[in-house]
Formats: sequence, structure tokens, C-alpha cells
Amino acid sequence: MSLSSNAPPSSAADAAPLHPIYAELVTQLAADLSAVTSEPALRTVHARYLGKDGEIRKRLAEALRAAPGPEKRTIGQAGNTALSRGEELFAARLNALHDAARGADLARSVDVTLPGRRTRLGGLHLLTQVRRELESIFAEIGFVVASGPQVESEFYNFEALAMPDDHPARDMQDTFYLQSPPLPGSTGGRLVLRTHTSPVQIRTMLAQPPPVRIIAPGKVYRKDDDPTHSPMFNQIEGLVVDDGVSFADLKGTLLYFARRFFGPSVDIRLRPSFFPFTEPSAEVDVTCVFCQQKGCRLCKGTGYIEILGCGMVDTAVFAHVDAERQRRGLPPAYDPENVSGFAFGMGIDRMAMLRYGVNDLRLLFAGDARFTQMFR
Ligand code: PHE
Repeated sequence: MSLSSNAPPSSAADAAPLHPIYAELVTQLAADLSAVTSEPALRTVHARYLGKDGEIRKRLAEALRAAPGPEKRTIGQAGNTALSRGEELFAARLNALHDAARGADLARSVDVTLPGRRTRLGGLHLLTQVRRELESIFAEIGFVVASGPQVESEFYNFEALAMPDDHPARDMQDTFYLQSPPLPGSTGGRLVLRTHTSPVQIRTMLAQPPPVRIIAPGKVYRKDDDPTHSPMFNQIEGLVVDDGVSFADLKGTLLYFARRFFGPSVDIRLRPSFFPFTEPSAEVDVTCVFCQQKGCRLCKGTGYIEILGCGMVDTAVFAHVDAERQRRGLPPAYDPENVSGFAFGMGIDRMAMLRYGVNDLRLLFAGDARFTQMFR
């Protein structure tokens, strides 16, 4: 195939003059064809002049209607000539456009020494990375992962955890209640978005006798929203129940965890606290990972940063569990005479922030790729 010039073929240029009633239209067509530079635009021009309802056929029809009988034949033949001249002009321009495109393709130079384009791999969100790391640290010491629903009944979220109806933690202030009625066959109470992962403690103990050694990560919901609180956040719950589990086991487990997660040089400190479902209860602080206890903005000068709440499982919780097991026709298995346990709960988001120095909780949930890509 030849790379011809843009000039129309000589047959169109040198052709005999057209009948005057078509000559101007064909000249216009030629001008319009050479004005367009793309094939779709070219085809639009084609349709406008040479189509079934195009200008040339319209002119032909008008002229035939107006002409006296003997002239009709001449006018008709001249119309056909005009149409085929138009088609020739169109074909020539189409060729010229194709040739130009091919020429541009051939003229383009390719630098074969350029490196290839890398396929960009996705990555895990920081929170997923941290959750998996927490899971594997606890897996090393025998914990298995458990889970529960985010929509809970009041029984699991509060009642069985020794937070009766009038307990302040059930206040509308910090809980999302659902309007739907309780689930059929459920132990009752309204439905709530779980306010913590502790209901998984209850679900686990209803599902199996001791020994229990679980961690339960997941989303929880509370009605607050500021730079350090989001209405949705992530917790990880721990529960151990067995024969002769002591507070020393709790402390040893948490120290092991803190050193695996923050580094071997950290220490922990336990402060007495209160949770309705543990007794005794404690808040756990870790020595400040930012200032090595010299005192900084992040530990507010105290040298310690709070990381979790914990305690020995309250016997009231065991009593609720066994009562419910009995109601379901299961043998009681959590007699505090035979078993004891500990539980803890921490914020996965908080762990991620401390570990990676993220200063605004909301960054973790905003889905801004610039942020998430920092942790690949
Ligand atoms: N569920 C408690 C909270 O959300 C944390 C906790 C868990 C405390 C287990 C003690 C034992 O604040």
C-alpha cells in the first residue's frame, strides 16, 4: 500500500465541469471534507451531503420537480454524476486520513530501553496488619480467634456481663439501639450495635465448656465522635477460663503481649479500676514508647500510656452463663468453685496509633490512599 499525498486523485480534480445546479454543493462538500480531521467527522459530512436525505439528493429531487419534462433526463444524469464525484472526494479524503494516521504511527519512536510499567500491588490496611499481628502474637501462646455479631441483643452486650437494666453503661448516651424487635428465639432484650467485644465472652462460654482461651477482634460502636473517638472502632477481646487461672497469669500474659508488640524493653503497670464483669479489675499502662519514660506530650508527662482494661472474670458472669446454659438444656460448666478466668479488652485502632505514631484516629477510617499507602 502506497503512502500517497493528501491531494485528491486526479480523476476528481480533472473531471468535466458539473451541471451548474450541483456545482456549488460539490465545491462546498470538498471544502467541508478537507476541513475535518477525523473519520467520524468525515462520515458526518458524508451523511450530510451524500446520504439518503443528503443535500445533493434533495437538490436533485427539487430540480426534477421543477424541470419541464424533456430536461428531467439531463438533470437526473447530472445528479448521478454529482453523487459519484462526491463519493470520490469522500474516498480520497478518507484515504488521506488513514495514510496520515499510519504515517504518524510509523514516525513515533519507541525507546525500547525504558523500564517496563510496574503493576501496582494492593496492600493491607494498617488496621488489618495490626489486627493480624495481634492475633498472631496471641496465637503463639495458645489463643484461638473467636467472633460474634456486630448487632447484639442486650442480653449478650449488657445483661450477662453483669450490667443490669439500670446500669449507667446502658445509657442511651453511648449506645446505638436498633428499632427492630428482638430476634426470634433470642435470649431477649432490644438489639444494639455492640458497644464492646465482651459479648463474645458470653457467646463462647455458652458454646463450649472450659478450657477457654480466645481472642475476639471486631468492630464496636458508641455514640461519640471527636479526634480521639469514632462512632465505630475496633477492639480485641481476650478470655481465658480454666482450672486455677490466677491474676498472675493475667499479668504474665499481658506483659508477654506488651513486649512482643511494643518491644522487649517496655514494662507494664496495672492500676485498680472497675468493670461490672471483672473483679478485681485493672487498667493496664505500658511504659511510654515515645520518650522511654522521660515524659512527653503523648504520655502527658507521666511516662506511661494506657493500653487496655482487664480483670478476673466476675463470678456473676459465670452465674449468668450457667443459668443460660441450663435454660438451653446444656450442663452447667462454669461453677466458680471449679474454674476461674481473666479477660481483657483493648482498642486495635489505639494500638495501631501508638505503634505507628498516628495522631488522629479518624485517619484510620477516612480511606485516604495517601495515608494507607504509607503503611505498605
Ligand atoms: N469491654 C471493656 C471496654 O470496652 C474492656 C474490658 C474487657 C475490660 C474485658 C475488662 C475485661 O471498656
